[in-house]
Amino acid sequence: MTDLLTTRPESLHLGHPIIDRTHDEFHGLVAKLNAAGLVDFILHFAALASHAEEHFAKEQQLMRQSHYPADQMETHLRDHLMVLQEINRLNAMVARGSVAAARVYVSDLLPVWFEQHNLAHDGPLVSHLKRANLASSLG
Ligand SMILES: [Fe+2]
Ligand SMILES: [Fe+2]
Repeated sequence: MTDLLTTRPESLHLGHPIIDRTHDEFHGLVAKLNAAGLVDFILHFAALASHAEEHFAKEQQLMRQSHYPADQMETHLRDHLMVLQEINRLNAMVARGSVAAARVYVSDLLPVWFEQHNLAHDGPLVSHLKRANLASSLG
């Protein structure tokens, strides 16, 4: 179990309202999953799969709207796709009642991924969005 599960969501905010709100939702779902019994775990894992689709689509839209550099967009989207494929693969197992691998995923692997993804991808994206916003407000 990593720090994500004991850290206050606000302390992970990057300073962009849409991304921070989305990350709070992610954080809330991961916390719920880690406290859930079997039935709730199955329900919340399906919610995590839906959340991940929307979360990544929102960031992709922000990248497109702000003309994010293509090379950074490509590596960022590749990292989203990798985790989305893993969540969907596990969700199919969870839906059949096989939760052991998914429990390890949400307690150990996904929190570590989130921290690393924030540092490598979402943090730089927010810096870019702030610069783009400043440039447009300066005219
Ligand atoms: Fe994100
Ligand atoms: Fe991201």
